[in-house]
Amino acid sequence: MTTKQPDGWSSKLGVIMAVAGSAVGLGNFLRFPGLAADKETGGGAFLIAYFISLLIVGLPICWVEWTLGRFGGTQGYNSSPGIFHAIVRKPWGKYVGLLGFIIPVGVYFYYVVIESWCLGYAWNSFSGGLDLGKDPAAYATAFAAFTGLKADGAILGFGGPFLFFVGVFVLNFVIIYRGISRGIEFICKWGMPVLILIALILLVRVMTLGTPDPTKPELSVWNGLGYMWNPHDIGQGLSNPAVWLKAASQVFFTLSVGFGVIITYASYLKKNDDVVLSGLTATAANEFCEVGLGGMITVPAAFAFLGASAVAGGTFALGFNVLPQVFAGMPYGHLFGGLFFTLLFIAAVTSSLSMLQPGIAFLEEGLGLDRRGSVTLLGLITAVGCTLVVWFSEGLKALSTVDFWIGDIGIFLQGTLLIYIFNFAFGTERGWTEAHQGAEIRIPRVFKFILRWVSPAYLTAIFAMFVLKNVAGWNLSFTAAAFTPTDPILDIVGGPGHPASGVARLTAFFLLLFAGFSALMIQRAGKRWDAR
Ligand code: TRP
Repeated sequence: MTTKQPDGWSSKLGVIMAVAGSAVGLGNFLRFPGLAADKETGGGAFLIAYFISLLIVGLPICWVEWTLGRFGGTQGYNSSPGIFHAIVRKPWGKYVGLLGFIIPVGVYFYYVVIESWCLGYAWNSFSGGLDLGKDPAAYATAFAAFTGLKADGAILGFGGPFLFFVGVFVLNFVIIYRGISRGIEFICKWGMPVLILIALILLVRVMTLGTPDPTKPELSVWNGLGYMWNPHDIGQGLSNPAVWLKAASQVFFTLSVGFGVIITYASYLKKNDDVVLSGLTATAANEFCEVGLGGMITVPAAFAFLGASAVAGGTFALGFNVLPQVFAGMPYGHLFGGLFFTLLFIAAVTSSLSMLQPGIAFLEEGLGLDRRGSVTLLGLITAVGCTLVVWFSEGLKALSTVDFWIGDIGIFLQGTLLIYIFNFAFGTERGWTEAHQGAEIRIPRVFKFILRWVSPAYLTAIFAMFVLKNVAGWNLSFTAAAFTPTDPILDIVGGPGHPASGVARLTAFFLLLFAGFSALMIQRAGKRWDAR
């Protein structure tokens, strides 16, 4: 073992801020409102599935991850593969942590790209360049130009968007290079209060919008809130497995729970540091930002100005197309718009850092690299992934492909795996005791039952339904239209009237390659760990 000073959190508040910083991100301010207002998944049904998932998988698995992370740290491990190696104590154990490396890094491939859009849009808004008048098409054109939506490779070159991307990419690695307390903790401690302050300013602005156009009284902020929050089409929504899968995935995504982030962050804690109250606090902070801020700002504002049809266009359209139009229509709109995109940018930075740290931790303890080496290698891996996303920008195909396979399916699988490992390899009883070590509060007993029986059954059932529906729909195509597989699957395998997409296939192939490469690294790491 080396004698280097172990890096770690400098204060209790620091780790909570960092986990909250990881949790509060684009998921809260774009993904959540987008899903809740979406034509297919949205409309009340989604919100019901979301809150159920939050209670029976989000919060309990969050506690599990804090607990296992701190345990792994006391065993001398900080990465997901290392920690599972320490928990399972069998040769296969470390591979359980594979997705805990792949998911954060894989999400980074596209997350940092969106992060750079946010910075670019903040800049353009403050400088007045985002006020494009009343024609909606102008905003769509601007968005397409910024993201290269129309043609592959369109944003490469020394134009604005590409520079923003490179700048944001480098910024993340500079911060990560500074380490846990001087990098991540420092940024989150400053960023989070600023973020909340901006969000509150925007919330007040939106809630006082009233009826922007007096000739259309039905377009008011209050009806916008109703559109977002009043349940409708419940029966149809709740009988669709995709709604449950999306809701559970969103819970994992937004809490940064289930795939290596919290396990890594918590591993820098000490044996008697509280995890129960900390986990609850970070979760509550995230839900405040998601439901109380994210769910109250974007959709109601867009509805009040442009009506229901504008709101239901999906996550990106809502954030980068519809909202700029809304800001253009209000006094001092360039300031409010600038603030909104600054908010998104801060939220995104504190999250993307948490996608890099699990990777850094693994490369350091698994391959024995030093900080410079691990930052360089991770920089190279993510540069390749990001290039794919930035290059194949037409229709944001590569981006959506990675988001589906990693951000929906991968996250869901790893969350499920985690709960099984907790119950069967670590032991529910032992885990319960371990969680309460040094805890400031006790977890209500019913959660032990939930952890043991309800969460695994719930996740397994959702996944079984989803697989059944997709495989049955595609393979045996014996039945009605109700059995349509989701597009990302059709994009790869092709189907009746749906040609496979080359980009989707290439992206999936790259992800497989990345997974294989990661598995090889884990195998090597295992040799080091066995020799310890
Ligand atoms: N929780 C973040 C959000 O809501 C996203 C996030 C942070 C994330 N770290 C992650 C997603 C790691 C996947 C993997 O925006």
